[in-house]
Amino acid sequence: QRGLLFGSLFGLGLAVLLGTFLATNIAYPIDRLVRAAGRIQRGYLDRPVRLDREDELGRLADAMERMRRGVLERDEQLRLMLAQVAHEIRNPLGGLELFAAAAIDTEERGERARLIGRVRGEVQALNRIINDFLAFARPTTVEMSAVDLRVPVWDAVELATNRQGEDVAIDVRLPDHSLMALANDERAKRAVLNLLQNALAVSDRVTVWGDREGGQVMLAVSDDGPGVPDDQRKRIFDPFVTDKEKGAGLGLAIVKRDMEAMDGRVEVRSASESGVGTGAEFRVYFPVLDEPPTP
Ligand SMILES: Nc1ncnc2c1ncn2[C@@H]1O[C@H](COP(=O)(O)OP(=O)(O)OP(=O)(O)O)[C@@H](O)[C@H]1O
Ligand SMILES: [Mg+2]
Repeated sequence: QRGLLFGSLFGLGLAVLLGTFLATNIAYPIDRLVRAAGRIQRGYLDRPVRLDREDELGRLADAMERMRRGVLERDEQLRLMLAQVAHEIRNPLGGLELFAAAAIDTEERGERARLIGRVRGEVQALNRIINDFLAFARPTTVEMSAVDLRVPVWDAVELATNRQGEDVAIDVRLPDHSLMALANDERAKRAVLNLLQNALAVSDRVTVWGDREGGQVMLAVSDDGPGVPDDQRKRIFDPFVTDKEKGAGLGLAIVKRDMEAMDGRVEVRSASESGVGTGAEFRVYFPVLDEPPTP
């Protein structure tokens, strides 16, 4: 009888102990993690996920904490971007309103035509902001094919020359042999065009050149402008970094993103290092094809 009683008491005690152990060591921390996940899901991102444990649950908590920080960071970037876009759009909208009102008020035909021209300019500025922004926000997968990179360079030079008017001369120094690489020709053209536009904004003399370099094709845009100081060289590739009144600061961010999407890269250095110019030199590198393309 006694033995049985002791036995059951012992068993009961064991069960209580085990239950307490499981509750404090497994159920309770899991509950905390579930609540933390719920907070993240609802967008309350300011409370850190913490469990001071060294075991698997601790590792899970650490992973969740990294996830929370990542989501928070992207959230902030997005907010910043939205604020920036709203700000960028406000300028041309203000201009539109002003010029349209003045065009309504004026009796004189010539003046009206001029004002409507300004209205059109502001509409084009709006369009450009939206296009740039979409280009930046769009997903990064690109279709790649065998491209002779001299072609997008020539296209970009033509576009840059037309946009800037006739008094710009871009010195094009490309080899007679083809520069075959694995690339997306539209993105490659846009990259070179962005670099040309930046260079033309600071310099009268701009050179675009390039060649095969190791296992890559290198294209460079060199200018005689002020160059880019060392401490700015990383920053200028971030979105919305600009010193221009009418620039969104997206040009180089788009170039960087596009080059990375094509398994290439972009870098900035001093043009004097290569002796082509005295200002900045921006280089883009593309991977070459392993095999020659079949005709
Ligand atoms: N060739 C260059 N020489 C000197 N500084 C440059 C050159 N290219 C870019 N920069 C600097 O880097 C900044 C960022 O360039 P980015 O092309 O990203 O934006 P942006 O030209 O200012 O505006 P956007 O290209 O959106 O019209 C420029 O505002 C300028 O300060
Ligand atoms: Mg630019």
